[in-house]
Amino acid sequence: MHAPETSAMTEMTPVTDTNANAANAEAPKKMVLPDAQTVTAVKHWTDRLFSFRVTRPASLRFRSGEFVMIGLMGDPHPETGKQKPLLRAYSIASPSWDEELEFYSIKVQDGPLTSKLQHIKVGDQIILRPKPVGTLVHDALLPGKRIWFFATGTGFAPFASLLREPQTYEDYDEVIITHTCREAGELQYGAELIESLKDDELLNEVIGEGFWKKIKYYPTTTREESAKMGRITDLMRSGEAFADLGVEPLNAETDRAMICGNLAFNLELKEMLEDYGLEEGANSDPKHYVVEKAFLD
Ligand code: A2P
Repeated sequence: MHAPETSAMTEMTPVTDTNANAANAEAPKKMVLPDAQTVTAVKHWTDRLFSFRVTRPASLRFRSGEFVMIGLMGDPHPETGKQKPLLRAYSIASPSWDEELEFYSIKVQDGPLTSKLQHIKVGDQIILRPKPVGTLVHDALLPGKRIWFFATGTGFAPFASLLREPQTYEDYDEVIITHTCREAGELQYGAELIESLKDDELLNEVIGEGFWKKIKYYPTTTREESAKMGRITDLMRSGEAFADLGVEPLNAETDRAMICGNLAFNLELKEMLEDYGLEEGANSDPKHYVVEKAFLD
């Protein structure tokens, strides 16, 4: 997910790497990154998608569904040799109780950050500003019976956190997750994560065995053949999604929703939810649904 580019910019504090100036660099030393965390795992899902895990700063507390700014050092300035951190907003894909932090990212070949980030390996360092924020949190919603998580592409990330968060199952009788991607391979990360929930020790212990029966997973693709094709918005409009899921259409009394996808998707779905009678909430003013934009480099 993504905060406006301007907010990313305000997080950038220039850092001088004294070793980067060739004139002074007789014996180059390893650069120490500000707010450095170490990569502990990397998995490439498709040529456009990868996930990775990093160490978690001991002081970092966050609510499942929030995001942080992460990144790498940019290239040295050709004249001054100075380097600035290149940071973007990323949803934390791991739940609040996890010892490490997980992220799920797109790879954009000419993207300023992800063109580099996609090459990280175990043992490398990334920059992580330990200031979590975001609207996709349980606190921003009024109590309800069903929660809908609507994602496209890497917008699945905050839900990867919330699906592993016990409060999700404590607060709701039903948890419906829809994920629309272009191709079938792009559903893999989410599909494996949801399958793994059945064996999730913490959730089985805290919520009770069989908690996962509360989950209804509805993956769809738009540009490659799969079991269910079409945009979730169209499938809801035609009623097909509700018939497939065996549930009633949304209403403000019972349903709560979180949206995370590309901009056009967010806007279209937001309008649809308003038509169902749901109102947008915020941390300071909890209501029926919340929205956040998925990260794109
Ligand atoms: P489509 O292939 O029909 O554009 P992207 O990779 O461009 O971020 O898109 C991710 C998924 O979101 C794609 O399956 C795409 O469908 C879908 N999508 C894009 N815009 C919308 C929208 N306005 N409503 C519903 N789904 C959308």
